[in-house]
Amino acid sequence: MKKLLFLYCVIFSVFCVESCQHKKTDKVNIIDENIAFAADQYELLLQSIEDPEKLLNPKSFIDGEMKFIPPQEWTSGFFPGSLWYIYELTGDEKWKNAAIKYTEMLDTIQYYTGNHDVGFMIGCSYGNGYRLAGNENYKDIIVQAAKSLSTRYNPSVGLIQSWNANPSKDWEYPVIIDNMMNLELLFDATEFSGDSSFYNIAVTHADNTIKHHYRSDYSTWHVIDYSKEDGTVRHRNTHQGYADESAWARGQSWGIYGYILCYRKTKDQKYLAQAEKALEFIANHPNYPEDGVPYWDYDAPEVPDTYRDASAGSILASALYELSTYSNKRNYQEWADKIINTLSSPDFRAPLGENGNFILMHSVGSLPHNSEVDVPLNYADYYFLEALKRKKDLKK
Ligand code: GLY
Repeated sequence: MKKLLFLYCVIFSVFCVESCQHKKTDKVNIIDENIAFAADQYELLLQSIEDPEKLLNPKSFIDGEMKFIPPQEWTSGFFPGSLWYIYELTGDEKWKNAAIKYTEMLDTIQYYTGNHDVGFMIGCSYGNGYRLAGNENYKDIIVQAAKSLSTRYNPSVGLIQSWNANPSKDWEYPVIIDNMMNLELLFDATEFSGDSSFYNIAVTHADNTIKHHYRSDYSTWHVIDYSKEDGTVRHRNTHQGYADESAWARGQSWGIYGYILCYRKTKDQKYLAQAEKALEFIANHPNYPEDGVPYWDYDAPEVPDTYRDASAGSILASALYELSTYSNKRNYQEWADKIINTLSSPDFRAPLGENGNFILMHSVGSLPHNSEVDVPLNYADYYFLEALKRKKDLKK
């Protein structure tokens, strides 16, 4: 009997070690395999957009046609940013050269004041460039871009105005949840310049967004329109979601990512708590799929017969990896891994040479406008690569 028990223990231990090693290998492979794939796919993307006359900035591939964008479009920083991440993930200098070329085509954006998106445009391109290449000139561009973004801050409202007034919607001072992402540029600019006014704008914006932009269940509206005189709320609407009172998926991801970055920059616990609570909304939502990649709106009545949004998934995964280093309220890393596993599967990751050579399929730009529905989008790829980098860092 004792012998039998001993034999059983030996077999059980061997099985455990084997399965542990197998799991470990799986984890290593999913990062390395995705990096190798991303490099091959973006090599093809770079080749396919080469034009002897001009530099072209790709955003999407729709109905067999590549969609290019001008520097002023809100997504112009993501392609250069993805090139920086591929450089960081592969260590191959050729990616650095490409990243520099596509970053510096955005030079004029440091002066752009037409909307709040300068944070995305400059942060993802020059921000990563400064982090990885240390070019001092990039620092000045980031500070100048923060000055441009700050022109949209009205102290009587206490928020950065995302979009210009829109009389057809009766919007006077519209602020969207996406704006939380642009705060990183302001925090960086204070670190680089020593000028605390950028930091102060960022925390005031973040505090007022907690106050007015979140519902009691910690989901967020998309657009809040404020009075420009005194900052009172005039309207609560959506622009890209299913309805004013629904939870547009990418907006939930922007808000969560935004509060995690605010916590990174300030160490203020209330930002961490905001992100944790907003994540509970998602975790407990009956329409949140088991595989972790959200439908385009958590409250779309057609669920499950409607579109997923890979971009909402990749933004969320990247945010969750960072949060896992600050909080163990849930197993955030396991949650992020689940999303990355799904996005890496043939359900979401394109075959080599297809999908316009973007990495991920199945994102949604704006379903109510029938614009960019179920297509690749450069920002889905950007946050997927960032998530891989964060996952890789966690393993170190
Ligand atoms: N920031 C615009 C969007 O997420 O579609």
